[in-house]
Amino acid sequence: MSAPMNLAVKLGPLHLKNPVLTASGTFGYGEEFEPFLDLNRLGGFVVKGLSCRPRPGNRSPRTWETPAGMLNSIGLENCGIDRFLEEKLPRLRKYRTAIIANLFGETIEEYCEVARKADAGEGLAALELNISCPNTARGGIDFGCDPEATREVVRAVRDVTSLPLMVKLTPNVTDIRPLAEAAQQGGADILSLVNTFFGMAIDIRSRRPRLSTRHGGLSGPAIKPMAIYLVDRVRAATDLPIVGIGGIRSGEDAVEFMIAGASAVQVGTGNFVDPLCSVHVLEEIETFLEKEGIQELRGLIGSLPR
Ligand SMILES: Cc1cc2nc3c(=O)[nH]c(=O)nc-3n(C[C@H](O)[C@H](O)[C@H](O)COP(=O)(O)O)c2cc1C
Repeated sequence: MSAPMNLAVKLGPLHLKNPVLTASGTFGYGEEFEPFLDLNRLGGFVVKGLSCRPRPGNRSPRTWETPAGMLNSIGLENCGIDRFLEEKLPRLRKYRTAIIANLFGETIEEYCEVARKADAGEGLAALELNISCPNTARGGIDFGCDPEATREVVRAVRDVTSLPLMVKLTPNVTDIRPLAEAAQQGGADILSLVNTFFGMAIDIRSRRPRLSTRHGGLSGPAIKPMAIYLVDRVRAATDLPIVGIGGIRSGEDAVEFMIAGASAVQVGTGNFVDPLCSVHVLEEIETFLEKEGIQELRGLIGSLPR
């Protein structure tokens, strides 16, 4: 029998036993998926975005299924960092997998406050910064759409944590490269991309938006080619390790992101279709490597000619 394949990956300071993570907001706080899969199988999971204080999120309807994905406007509903650290994290620590806290705020001070608290919480492998949020001090333009704000917020958070810092980029910009560079200059260790694309759907009979907030974020298979394009762009602009996200629901999808330059991937909307999607992605990566006679996952990552 052949030796088990080594799927471990290094993303700067973050070491994962395999390259499959689950994406923030699609996997609860991990515990919700305990009945369906052994969380130890995963390279890690990213918990629902956390803020300084609990948030109720937007009112319904806040999801809408589209032909190849979904729109959501959950509004970053979450239990708040304090409750996460007190109630949820202690129960998750038993798992031998990377637990990554996704964090956000509306001001740099809020980002720092939530990051400082997360940094003190025992058992987190890394922080992922969601910068697709309005900067209320700068007229509401998203941090992640403005290179200067991106640099500032990443630098400020970098100063309050020694945990590996992953910065999650928004695709809703004309050119993603200056944002990737700004995150690197601010001190990011890893870039994850992408968050959802702005989108909208209308009920043609009532002539009303399908979502209570009018607009939402599009995810799922529809965004995969756009996400891969952005991975390719970011790879050309920085040398930081990349985590690819966008419409991944099979091992072959994941391999495509890896060839483009992603060292690891996150499975998002796929978890809603099949709670075991992430495990299937992992198994299918292994099958692909075996069939192609590839010994080392490393040989695949970024193998697309530049
Ligand atoms: C219902 C829902 C909630 C989400 N919540 C968050 C969140 O709290 N923080 C965040 O950074 N991304 C959030 N996302 C974005 C996902 O993590 C992911 O970046 C995006 O859905 C693209 O991946 P996918 O096509 O595999 O779903 C959310 C996505 C969905 C569908």
